[in-house]
This record gives sequence, C-alpha cells and structure tokens, in this order.
Amino acid sequence: MEESLLFRLDYADYVFNRPCNLERVFRLCDEDKKEMNVLTNSLFTPYTLKDLELKNRVVMPPMCQYSVTAKDGIPNDWHHVHYLSRAIGGTGLIIIEMTDVEPDGRITDYDLGLWSDEHVPAYKKLVDGIHAHGSKVGIQIAHAGRKAEDAADPVAPSAIAYPDANYKQPRALTTEEVRGMVQKFADATRRAVQAGVDTIELHGAHGYLIHQFHSPVTNKRDDEYGKDLSRFGVEVIQAVRKQMPAGMPLILRISAMEYVDGGYDVDHAIELSRAYQAAGVDVIHVSSGGEGPAGARKPGNYPGYQVPFARQIREALNIPVIAVGALDEPALAQSVIGNEDADLVAVGRGLLRDPYWAIHAAVTLRGEEPSIPEQYQRGY
Ligand SMILES: Cc1cc2nc3c(=O)[nH]c(=O)nc-3n(C[C@H](O)[C@H](O)[C@H](O)COP(=O)(O)O)c2cc1C
Repeated sequence: MEESLLFRLDYADYVFNRPCNLERVFRLCDEDKKEMNVLTNSLFTPYTLKDLELKNRVVMPPMCQYSVTAKDGIPNDWHHVHYLSRAIGGTGLIIIEMTDVEPDGRITDYDLGLWSDEHVPAYKKLVDGIHAHGSKVGIQIAHAGRKAEDAADPVAPSAIAYPDANYKQPRALTTEEVRGMVQKFADATRRAVQAGVDTIELHGAHGYLIHQFHSPVTNKRDDEYGKDLSRFGVEVIQAVRKQMPAGMPLILRISAMEYVDGGYDVDHAIELSRAYQAAGVDVIHVSSGGEGPAGARKPGNYPGYQVPFARQIREALNIPVIAVGALDEPALAQSVIGNEDADLVAVGRGLLRDPYWAIHAAVTLRGEEPSIPEQYQRGY
C-alpha cells in the first residue's frame, strides 16, 4: 500500500513541482487526492457529464431479471433488493434493465415496462431507493421487436424471423405504426424522467428493435425507414430528447459488430453512432452481437474483447463511451479507464455474483478508497 502511494506521490510532486514530505505519503490530504486524480484517471475518480455526476466510473449495465411475476411490467420486491444492494455496494451508475415501451415489446411477460402513467409511482420508489444509497440511476428504454418471445403478434422492421425455432414470425410495421412506435419511446422516457432517473439509455443493441432497424440484415423496407437505416433511431433520439431536461445525458447502447453472416462491422456502427450523436446522444455504450447466431465471425473469448470497439468509437467521434464485456477483473477494469479506452466501465455478471463488486474492486486496487457503508465497516 505505502509503496504504491509513495510512487504516486513522487509522481505528483514531480509534475506539480512540489516538495514531498513523509506525512503526506501516509495521509493523503484532499488536495493530494485531487492532484492524483488529475494525474491518474481511475475507476474510482468521479465523472461528470452535463448534470450527471457520478462518484466513480463503475456502471451496472442493464440486465433483465425476468422477475415481474404479476406480468404487469411493474418493479416489485425483487427489483428493490436487487438494485438497492448494488447501490449499497458502491456502484456509481445503475442502469435498470431493459424496460419496454409496450406490452408486446417485452422479451417475455416477466419483463419491466413503462407503457402507462400508472407505472410511474413504482419506478419512483425504486429510483428514490437507489438514490438514498448514493448511486445514480439510468433506465434502458427498449422494444424487443422480432425478439418478443411472448408477444402473440411480434412486430419488426421487416417480416424476417429470428433464425431460431423459439421465435415467431414477425409482422412488418406499417410506416404509420413506425411513427407511433417513435412516440411510444418518447412517452416511456417522459415517465422515466417523472420517476426521477438521472439518465436514459436507449437499447440500440443485441438485435432488439432499434438494432433491427439499423441492420441491413433485418431492415429490408422500401419506405424512408429502410432507405436510411439510421432514420428510426434518429427519430427516436430526437423524440426522447424532447422529454428530457437539457442537462440530462442520453446514452445509446449499440452492437458495434454483428456476428451473423452478412452482418455489419464496426465501420457501420461508427457511422450509425455519428448520426445518433448528431441527433442528440451523449454517450455510446459499446456492446456487440445479439442479432442472430454467429456465423464465420465469432465474438472474442478474452476478457475485454469489446474494448477495442469502444476505443474505436470514442476516437472516431470524440464521444464518451462505456466499455462492457468480461471486465470484472478489477485491474483490467482499471486499465480500461487509465489507458483511456473508455470513460466508464460496465460490469454485468460480476455484479450478479457480487453486489459489492465496486467496494471489493477498490479494496483490491491498492490505493483506492472503497465507499463502505458505515454499517458494514467492521467487516473490512
Ligand atoms: C442476466 C442478464 C441479463 C441481461 N439483460 C440485458 C438487458 O436487459 N439489456 C442489455 O442491453 N443487455 C443485457 N445483458 C447484457 C449485459 O448488459 C452485458 O452487456 C453482458 O452481460 C456483458 O457484460 P459482462 O461480461 O460484464 O457480464 C444481460 C446480461 C445478463 C447476464
């Protein structure tokens, strides 16, 4: 511990041309910490974007719980315990799982939804609960399109089924219905904002509706929503932005690479992201795949396999990005921030295994200050 602090303080003294003294090596004053944060971005330095102020760079990405037993789209006790424990565990930003804009937009009937004003109080209670434990809250607004498994009549840009026997044949939305769908994203966003969220994430990844529109594999329309593959996403972004306070950042999750044969590559994802940034997106959350079974091109097997995509999008567009995908080894997550591959790191399955992942990562990364709740301090 002392050794690493020594090195970092020496480095601070070198850069800021200040004399070093031994006391400061063992007891960091706030000024030191501020300077060190300037020097070394870390998982545990705060991050501010517009009005969103995060205490650290650890993000819980959206993860469906399929736990709405009442099938009404409304969060219940499970969601409270699940999300509040990750807040107690020190997570900077919690993005609530895929939350759908209409009942038939759910993957299953057990998913969350925000299709009615009556849903708002339950979400407000959840958001207030997370806030009370120091995390900021986002919510992923989505529609499953052709991947809506329980919908009687799933809809999609084109009548092309997901290539798997579990999925039904979807019906192509009419042009009028596409416009109506844009409005449904806006209405769900308005409700999320009423519930008190700090940021909105649009689900443009993993083969769900926005992704289906911007992929040449699933969008064969001949109207304006097919001639320009980004048009649906752009209209959704413009519509949801109108429902959000100007200072609230908008995140879009994208699959940077498709793995189905004939799928798009990262260059297409960069062009899509460029159009989405121009339409009002502030942060790209960079994932990949989900549009169908992998063909000749396979997703990487190694920790951090999606980080190169995040870096490419960040550099091409000069836009903040969230990196995700097998980043739950603290030193690896730390290096993604330190090397400026990404601005934020999302840890999914790691947070399913350990609600206190952020605290434990800070303990593991020597020199970081874990935000341990007072009640638990005797455990450390
Ligand atoms: C149980 C589970 C549910 C998920 N649900 C969603 C979801 O609702 N929306 C989404 O964009 N990704 C979803 N994902 C993907 C995660 O957000 C994340 O991108 C993925 O797990 C890779 O990150 P990891 O290696 O840190 O787990 C889900 C993943 C898991 C394991």
